[in-house]
Amino acid sequence: MKIAVGADHGGFALKEEIKAFLINEGHDVTDMGTHSFTSTDYNDHAIKVAEGVRDHTFERGILVCGTGVGMSIMANKVQGVRAALVHDVFTAKATRLHNDSNVLTMGGRVVGPGLALEIVKVWVDTAFSHEERHERRVQKIDQY
Ligand code: RB5
Repeated sequence: MKIAVGADHGGFALKEEIKAFLINEGHDVTDMGTHSFTSTDYNDHAIKVAEGVRDHTFERGILVCGTGVGMSIMANKVQGVRAALVHDVFTAKATRLHNDSNVLTMGGRVVGPGLALEIVKVWVDTAFSHEERHERRVQKIDQY
């Protein structure tokens, strides 16, 4: 799967772990930065990843900041992006099945790498359910 990853300084360390994990799983990963712990605006990385998902350059995006909140707010401004802020495995699965989320955001200061990689694995590997009620609700999001 073609996946773009991005982070600010608060998510840099976890983004590096996620990137290595995804590459090891056989995914085609593009890194939209940041590449160090130097302070940077989460917005700039969120936009690059979210626009790539919107344009179908990437099937999915994963964004990490300190809390995951700034990344989710910013990414969800981009038409066609359904970004989900997730810190547990249940929600990771549910948001793929129900919301067809195409961007995952997490907080590098909230979850450790062990849990984060479990979340990433479940989120990447779970397909949208395509149940009629979920299709209808996702269409309402996209049409708004
Ligand atoms: C940066 O200090 C922090 O505000 C950012 O990583 C993120 O948590 C914002 O939502």
